[in-house]
Amino acid sequence: MKIGIIVTDQGDWTALALVRSIKKIGATPILLRLDEITACVGSPNIPGTCDIDAVIVRDVGAGAFEQVSFKFDLLKILASDIPVINTPEAIRNAANKYYSLHLLQKSGLPVPKTAVTCDPDVAIKILDDWGEIVIKPIFGYKGIGITRFRSDPERSIQNRDSIDKILAERGVLYIQEFIPMNRDMRVFVVGKTVAGSIYRYAETGWITNLSQNGRPLPCVLNQSQKEASVLAAEAVGATFAGVDLAETKDGFVILEVNGTPSGKGIFDACGVDVTKNIVELCSTMARR
Ligand SMILES: Nc1ncnc2c1ncn2[C@@H]1O[C@H](COP(=O)(O)OP(=O)(O)O)[C@@H](O)[C@H]1O
Ligand SMILES: [Mg+2]
Repeated sequence: MKIGIIVTDQGDWTALALVRSIKKIGATPILLRLDEITACVGSPNIPGTCDIDAVIVRDVGAGAFEQVSFKFDLLKILASDIPVINTPEAIRNAANKYYSLHLLQKSGLPVPKTAVTCDPDVAIKILDDWGEIVIKPIFGYKGIGITRFRSDPERSIQNRDSIDKILAERGVLYIQEFIPMNRDMRVFVVGKTVAGSIYRYAETGWITNLSQNGRPLPCVLNQSQKEASVLAAEAVGATFAGVDLAETKDGFVILEVNGTPSGKGIFDACGVDVTKNIVELCSTMARR
């Protein structure tokens, strides 16, 4: 059996762990970079993929609109032939923070108060009503570009300026109530089970992403956190996912679902290699 791994950085921990896990089940890993593929319309296969039995997407990477679209089109064409996990649709759903939260909310899952607007006056009104908010990029990742605002008459001019600046950059404002916390939870779901979970403690500031100096520590989930995480992955259509939970005074909310999650934090904190679960599940789906 040959299992393709879509990578952007083949030295990344999760990519290397997937290679090891694929070899451990006696299959052959084939690393594929979508930006190295030349696709000719009318050719029967995408070059380099004709004898692959299934594909695991580690990472698609960011880029210009046309470049990202092309990569997703390649994944869609591959997925029409062989199992691809996660599917391009699931990755796209999860990557979009507004659409994914809509799907989660529709599935009855707890999410933070969130609004999206192109009107800066509406954003200021929300800030004043909610007291404290974060504004995030809709297609953000690794905690990059998240800004926190506190409603304060003495800061109203600065707040308005910053909101106008973000709006000029992005054309839209994804606004969420600020949830006070010094840690969040990252839950790694594979199939219908939780393969691992960690707390991520904010070491500097308030953002907990490991790429922003967050510290991973083991975390034991309660049953409803486990069930909600599995349902969240399902809501976006993901076979495996990293689900971010924030604890609140009433329980917890789901901040987002990651369709191309790293397994490194869970390995570092708990010694659990989630790629083993992904590869085992993938092998049961492969075409031979
Ligand atoms: N509503 C919020 N209130 C407080 N902190 C938040 C909120 N949303 C996000 N954060 C912090 O920012 C981090 C990144 O946010 P997240 O929505 O997961 O986006 P990303 O895709 O960048 O990881 C979270 O892990 C958390 O530490
Ligand atoms: Mg996150």
